[in-house]
Amino acid sequence: MKTGNAEIVSFTLAKSKDLGDCVDILMDSILGEEYFSRETIEPLLSKAIKQHEVTVAKKNSGEIIGFYRLVLNGVFLVFAYIHLIAVKTEYRGRGVGTKILQDAERKILEQKDYPKIKKSFLLVGKINRRAKRYYERNGYKKVSTLDDLFDKGDTEFLMVKDLGRGVSQ
Ligand SMILES: CC(C)(COP(=O)(O)OP(=O)(O)OC[C@H]1O[C@@H](n2cnc3c(N)ncnc32)[C@H](O)[C@@H]1OP(=O)(O)O)[C@@H](O)C(=O)NCCC(=O)NCCS
Repeated sequence: MKTGNAEIVSFTLAKSKDLGDCVDILMDSILGEEYFSRETIEPLLSKAIKQHEVTVAKKNSGEIIGFYRLVLNGVFLVFAYIHLIAVKTEYRGRGVGTKILQDAERKILEQKDYPKIKKSFLLVGKINRRAKRYYERNGYKKVSTLDDLFDKGDTEFLMVKDLGRGVSQ
């Protein structure tokens, strides 16, 4: 991992004006190469932003250097699903992604309602070996393999992290 602080000062809910930056970051990644086109990602992300599911990571200067989508009841209607984590190309490998996961997990743990045990789920493509390693290093375990999930020949790993009991439970 490279040294150097990416100077994140804030994680804030994305606003409509952030859509373009998020799409650009995503398209310049394996997600843009293998899963989405601008035409498919724009409406999906735009809707997610309106639903307050997207959080952006910003530097002091206001530059958006990463983002993620968190759907708090995205798995089995009660567990959290982290979708679409992406860090701006020139900031990868500097710890931003790790801070992003920590921010998402903090939000999941803040939930006071059912279920008592908080779990965080996500999917990673078999071809995205570095991302899988990043999730494993952050405590995620592969629990299932899903063949032909998004397309014929696409294999995805379902990963989960047990976050324990949420606050005040
Ligand atoms: C995966 C990703 C979110 C990690 O964020 P990050 O800020 O680079 O991660 P950190 O600096 O906290 O951790 C470094 C680890 O991230 C992973 N990583 C770094 N660059 C990566 C890249 N271009 N693609 C995939 N994983 C990468 C590696 O496991 C790396 O550890 P290593 O250097 O020992 O191999 C980021 O690299 C990224 O946006 N990649 C492209 C999009 C993507 O693959 N998203 C995940 C989809 S499931």
